Amino acid sequence: MKLISYGVELKKKAGVAAANIVEDGMTLGIGTGSTVKHFVEELGRRVKEESLNIKGVTTSFQSKLLCYHHGIPIIDAAMVSQIDLGVDGADEIDYSLNAIKGGGAAHTIEKIVATMAKQFILIGDESKLVDNLGTKFPVPIEVIPEAIALVESKTKDIGADPRIRMATKKDGPVISDNGNFIVDLFFKALQDTSAINNFLLTIPGVVETGLFIDMADQAFIADSDGVQIIKKDWTRTKD
Ligand code: 5RP
Repeated sequence: MKLISYGVELKKKAGVAAANIVEDGMTLGIGTGSTVKHFVEELGRRVKEESLNIKGVTTSFQSKLLCYHHGIPIIDAAMVSQIDLGVDGADEIDYSLNAIKGGGAAHTIEKIVATMAKQFILIGDESKLVDNLGTKFPVPIEVIPEAIALVESKTKDIGADPRIRMATKKDGPVISDNGNFIVDLFFKALQDTSAINNFLLTIPGVVETGLFIDMADQAFIADSDGVQIIKKDWTRTKD
């Protein structure tokens, strides 16, 4: 018998629910992470069994490989400026649908692709919903290596504790798909996320932040009862 953990089951529910709203002919933003993996697997099933005709704009090498293995045709993000629907995971989502992303160091391309999307949907299990961003996760920023000391100094000035993300199966730092470092910013209390985001983007060498403010239109959150759909206007329904 195959044992699937509760958390994995919930991620699967959220991913499958998002794949079920995909329509024939759509161009899709394909996020990154373990929740998106289920979204792509279900899309692959629909492509194979329902002859669903879709194209994916991927956000990382991980999502590119997943699409390749599940028979989803890919278009290079550099060749697109608008897509029908973007679907991605998140590390934390608040009730206004602001999010922290970048647990997989892919947030720069994820933000580019999310911005192209007419509709952007976050998917996750119930552990991702928080009252305040920064409760469980730091804010990641992607940094050009030469700027690392400058970025450490500037972010300490605003009360952050900056830590270069270290690899676990390689000595030294995590290197993003774009060849940069990831610095995780730990805040005692993360307030005014919009102002912090704007400030971080003024530091030379900061490529992008993992703060996704006012970007998502909906969140599909799976719990033991099913999938809760939270909309930007605060309405909630069950899938
Ligand atoms: C990658 C991300 C992921 O979407 C985020 O870390 C959530 O991942 P998971 O679905 O594995 O919990 O932002 O950069």
